[in-house]
Amino acid sequence: MCGIVGGIAERNISGVLLEGLKRLEYRGYDSAGLALIASGQLSREREVGKVANLVHAAEQSGIHGNVGIAHTRWATHGKPSQHNAHPHTSHNIAVVHNGIIENYQELKTELQALGYQFTSETDTEVVAHLVHHALKNQADLLLAVQSIIPKLKGAYALGIIDANQPDELIAVREGSPLVIGVGIGEYFISSDQLALLPVTNRFIYLEEGDTVRLKRDSVEIFAHGQAIERPVTELDATVMSSSKGEYRHFMLKEIFEQPNAVQQTIAQALDGNALKENFLEHANPALTQVQHVQIIACGTSYHAGLVAKYWFEQIIGLPCQIEIASEFRYRHPVIIANTLYLCISQSGETADTLAALRDIQKRAKASNTPIYTMAICNVSTSSMIRETNFHLLTLAGPEIGVASTKAFTTQLAALMLLILKIGEVKQSITTELKLELIQALWHCPKVLNETLKHDAKILSLSELFVEKAHCLFLGRGTHYPIALEGALKLKEISYIHAEGYAAGELKHGPLALVDNDMPVVILAPQDDMLDKLKSNMEEVQARGGELFVFADEHSGIHKKDRQHVVHIPQISQWLAPIIYSVPVQLLSYHVAVLRGTDVDQPRNLAKSVTVE
Ligand code: G6P
Repeated sequence: MCGIVGGIAERNISGVLLEGLKRLEYRGYDSAGLALIASGQLSREREVGKVANLVHAAEQSGIHGNVGIAHTRWATHGKPSQHNAHPHTSHNIAVVHNGIIENYQELKTELQALGYQFTSETDTEVVAHLVHHALKNQADLLLAVQSIIPKLKGAYALGIIDANQPDELIAVREGSPLVIGVGIGEYFISSDQLALLPVTNRFIYLEEGDTVRLKRDSVEIFAHGQAIERPVTELDATVMSSSKGEYRHFMLKEIFEQPNAVQQTIAQALDGNALKENFLEHANPALTQVQHVQIIACGTSYHAGLVAKYWFEQIIGLPCQIEIASEFRYRHPVIIANTLYLCISQSGETADTLAALRDIQKRAKASNTPIYTMAICNVSTSSMIRETNFHLLTLAGPEIGVASTKAFTTQLAALMLLILKIGEVKQSITTELKLELIQALWHCPKVLNETLKHDAKILSLSELFVEKAHCLFLGRGTHYPIALEGALKLKEISYIHAEGYAAGELKHGPLALVDNDMPVVILAPQDDMLDKLKSNMEEVQARGGELFVFADEHSGIHKKDRQHVVHIPQISQWLAPIIYSVPVQLLSYHVAVLRGTDVDQPRNLAKSVTVE
């Protein structure tokens, strides 16, 4: 999704802005640009494609300045092209924007009637012209920006500069993330603090509705027009490290970080064979009251929630529903008292999940229905964490690869911790099962490490996928969501069409697709469904399908003609979904590398989907 960087300093900040854009590349984009003011003159560079193209253009032109804004664009209105790339300008005004201005067409018509000429197909350009027009009646840039905000419908974050007022930068947060970086005698803005780590580790997190005036030596924040102070948070910069190290791609690094990430996540909650007393202690009274769980999430996080639905009901007998946030938010579901609304999100900024959360909170308040909200999230400073009653952090560290890996497995670990916690406060879990699960959680990092040792074998199997156009992933029970996740990973990064199915559904459609050319990936842990799954494998083989089976070492499943097997070390059946995520991640990764795709930034996708 679009990324914003901006700043105001005494020095030339073109390098800071370009480095910031590089650090936002992971969000997904198709063009990039920047605008800077030097000696009262506005200059701009914009390029289609990678930030490297923009860096080259900036070097050629020597663009510089001490106040500026920059942007990576992920096309929504108008195709990726130089004239649609941000910043957009109107005379001396330049604007960068993340989000969507829903009523831009109507505003455009009004502005055209006033004589403004448009040079792009974007929704953003209206903002530049609106600010220019407002400045005719109101010379102060911040007041002019504030005056146009009521006209804008949609979700957006904005950075705005004016060459006639070169000592300030205006920023707006209204539905899309934006953070202020506090330097020494300089200030910056960005969609993600990662972009600003080279210049500061001190941040101010803006709230929805905030408008900001940054000068070199001051920051003024207004909440819906009223001046307000927001705290400065200092981050431990080492935690935010984001280099690929020895790995070829972030995705591979993140796959291999999983043993440690899961270890960190569980260690925050477990002490030997027990839950720590202070783990979610402040949530004890609420969790005792919870009668249902409603999970809301998107993408890979949704798949983690699907696994947890089995766990909530089977382990602690707590009814659990799950829905994709983009559906939930518009369905206006009935609000049920004493429900725990559980948002799962790597970023904590996903637009649909946030909107669903806000809708449910608003309607629960209006109807005076007691509910609880919780986020399972990887970013401690995110909107979702700030807007829920309780949260549980996945301690995966920054995830840069667009295809989520370590965030997923740590979400599963965190969900299991939550289930143990609720089981304990509601006394709905036996001591024996609790002990079995805690010991299995501690065992997980070791089994993940052993599973990662199969990397070379999975690489050799991946060669058999390179020429394929389609692929099926099958699993049962908690491994049905892992089949969905495997298919999602493969399509996201290798662009091979893949479907995940509950193996029991095979006869109801997908079997028709199976032929000599159809690889079928099977997830076969040692669980109660194994015999049924073996029958499904026979059905595929009888139709000429080629099987790629990730099977428990004691499953009795072995290599034979058109059946490739990778044996996965044994683990408690409850936690097997965490382990079986690894081979499907590695398979997708290697297939994508062999097909030569952009693994960390697959085409058309974004890491953090901050618009609908
Ligand atoms: C995007 C990302 C996915 C992610 C999904 C939900 O589609 O590419 O990897 O699973 O958003 O994101 P969230 O941050 O809410 O987990």
